[in-house]
Amino acid sequence: MKYISNLLFSLCLITITQFLSMEAASQKVSFHWQKMANGVWKAEVGKPEAKNLLSISGVSPKIKAINDMPSANFPIAENEIEVEVYDGKTYLKFPLDKTEKIFGLGLNFKTVEQRGRILRLHEDHYDGVDNGRSHAPIPFYVSSKGYGVFINSARYIDIWVGTGVRVDSKTPADVRDRNTDPKWSASPYSDNVEVLIPAEGVELFVFGGPSTLDAVSRFNLYQGGGCLPPKWGLGFWHRTPTLFNDAQLLEEVEGFTKHQFPLTVIGLEPGWQSKSYPCTYEWDNKRFPDPKGLIKTLKDKGIYTNLWINPYISPDAKLMSTLKPFTSSHTVWSGYIPDYAMKQTNTIIGNHLKKNLLDIGVSGFKMDENDGFDFWLWPDVAKFPSKMPAEMMRQTYGMMMQKLNTQLYRTENKRTYGLVRGTNAGATSFPFVIYNDYYSHRDFITALINSSFIGTLWTPEVRSSGSAEDWLRRMQTVCFSPIAMLNAWSDGTKPWTFPEVEKEVADVANLRMQLIPYLYTCFAEYAFYGRPPFRAMNLVDAFPNEIKDQYMVGDNLLIAPLFTGEISRKVFLPKGKWYDFYTGKLVGDSEVITVAPGLAHIPVFVKEGGIIPMAVNNTVAEGKYDLVIKYYGEKDASYQLYDDDGKTFNYEKGDFSWRTLSVKRDQKGQLNGSISLPATGKPDNIGKITWEFKTK
Ligand code: GAL
Repeated sequence: MKYISNLLFSLCLITITQFLSMEAASQKVSFHWQKMANGVWKAEVGKPEAKNLLSISGVSPKIKAINDMPSANFPIAENEIEVEVYDGKTYLKFPLDKTEKIFGLGLNFKTVEQRGRILRLHEDHYDGVDNGRSHAPIPFYVSSKGYGVFINSARYIDIWVGTGVRVDSKTPADVRDRNTDPKWSASPYSDNVEVLIPAEGVELFVFGGPSTLDAVSRFNLYQGGGCLPPKWGLGFWHRTPTLFNDAQLLEEVEGFTKHQFPLTVIGLEPGWQSKSYPCTYEWDNKRFPDPKGLIKTLKDKGIYTNLWINPYISPDAKLMSTLKPFTSSHTVWSGYIPDYAMKQTNTIIGNHLKKNLLDIGVSGFKMDENDGFDFWLWPDVAKFPSKMPAEMMRQTYGMMMQKLNTQLYRTENKRTYGLVRGTNAGATSFPFVIYNDYYSHRDFITALINSSFIGTLWTPEVRSSGSAEDWLRRMQTVCFSPIAMLNAWSDGTKPWTFPEVEKEVADVANLRMQLIPYLYTCFAEYAFYGRPPFRAMNLVDAFPNEIKDQYMVGDNLLIAPLFTGEISRKVFLPKGKWYDFYTGKLVGDSEVITVAPGLAHIPVFVKEGGIIPMAVNNTVAEGKYDLVIKYYGEKDASYQLYDDDGKTFNYEKGDFSWRTLSVKRDQKGQLNGSISLPATGKPDNIGKITWEFKTK
């Protein structure tokens, strides 16, 4: 007995001592929230690292645009946010209430709602599991209660979203007896989001609402607002097989003319380079003896050229004579890894790209493989001459490549639009769209939806299909995405590869071209007001469920894709009346409907009062165009149509116009449409206008 009580005593002592020493090492950190702009607060907790996502991206917040938004109070109970620094790491706790839903936290492919999930936000290609390994491991979440939280750290971040249950919880889970209680759960109720950052401090941001969309818009504006692509970037893209030469490329382009299929961008894959994987960034002079002439020939046909690159430089590249000191201790595919955290690297690569590629008319890049895959990428023990830790390098590599490219084109006063595989917070204003090789159509659409929570863009590119039905269904969705692109790099497919659906594919590609004025306005709203052009339904209305397979384009269009094998589907309509895009007929009012539209069309619905400006012909990318303006519904309505020169940065100096399109019912009960003039001296690209009142 004495022995047992002695044992108990010493056990208690050990526990108390451990607890005390833990308390001693653990430092509850006090901090205060500093107001940065209307509805944006920052706190520096512990000792934040000098390098973080925003400092690496170097972007400036759009303070005026944020201040013009509806005012917002600090949206979280301040005393329920806890910070501790312990063991060289920062521990964060944010509260969650019972009904709250959490969205965001990287580019997820299978889930929209993140509550109940555990993630390690880590830059990577997507491998079929939503575990935080992501092309865009963006440490930002947005709550259905209308606020957002951003952890401005370029480290791998662990996050438990409503899974951890604390002893000091204010709303503890009931203790249940598994033997007898059927309500027992292995994951009892958790009332917090907990975060672990492997650094002794961090910058935190809270973004207010009032709506969930407002919180996302604030986050986007704080990173400089969304990108505004050139108009040509919103046309149809086609990427050619890897080893195509100039003659094959021109023949491919000819095919588009023959098939009367639109084309604004042609993409060249690795074979334009003399060597690739690792890359030379030099033309292969056998396949492309006259790149300048070729690019001019294409440009004369209204086609822009986009080139594939990856970051790893061949030892045989001319670039290496100066770049070598600014590369890593490790290689990838025997290629040198440029240290983009160094000014010299950016100057050397920037000068090379400008002189050899931009100056001959290349209009943008597809920056592949900067997301990484552990088995071929540099390990986290790699060293870089800038001394940026390899982990931070991994988290921000794709972003730094985007930054250099963005600046190169900006210096020329030309806009670019391209593709990238890796990104992070801070890059919203960089004009690059994420893609990958994963190729699940359904998951591609969930990724498109998720991109809208985290300030990124995603394209569900089309490559190949096992059936004409799948081909058409994929083409239909890609035409309602940030880049309407066929990536034929390995399959050599063409839009007309399935003749049985050639007409339907051409119809949707032409529809894409006609929608450019509407899409361009959506992007202007992204750039000026931070509102994502492609939007999750859960950003638009308070649906009780997560919606993974339908989304909005701008305020007015709802897209409800069908996938191979489906003949009908449910559509969740947000509040208000909704109309069929093609017929103008009323389809429902704040309800769930079932549609069975046939193969020819992707279901598209328009909100009551929706005004959709559409180009009559395919000339919108270049100069003047005629408009047909479609109107849906019965009420008076108005819409702001954005326009500018479509290709330079002059809009940043005020060279743009917002024109008001109005619909009003006259005394005879007829609907009439009108359009305001652009202010004097402002861009005016619109020719003839026709109004179509779709709802009869
Ligand atoms: C892949 C990329 C493809 C294609 C290919 C070329 O990494 O995802 O789209 O560019 O490389 O080798």
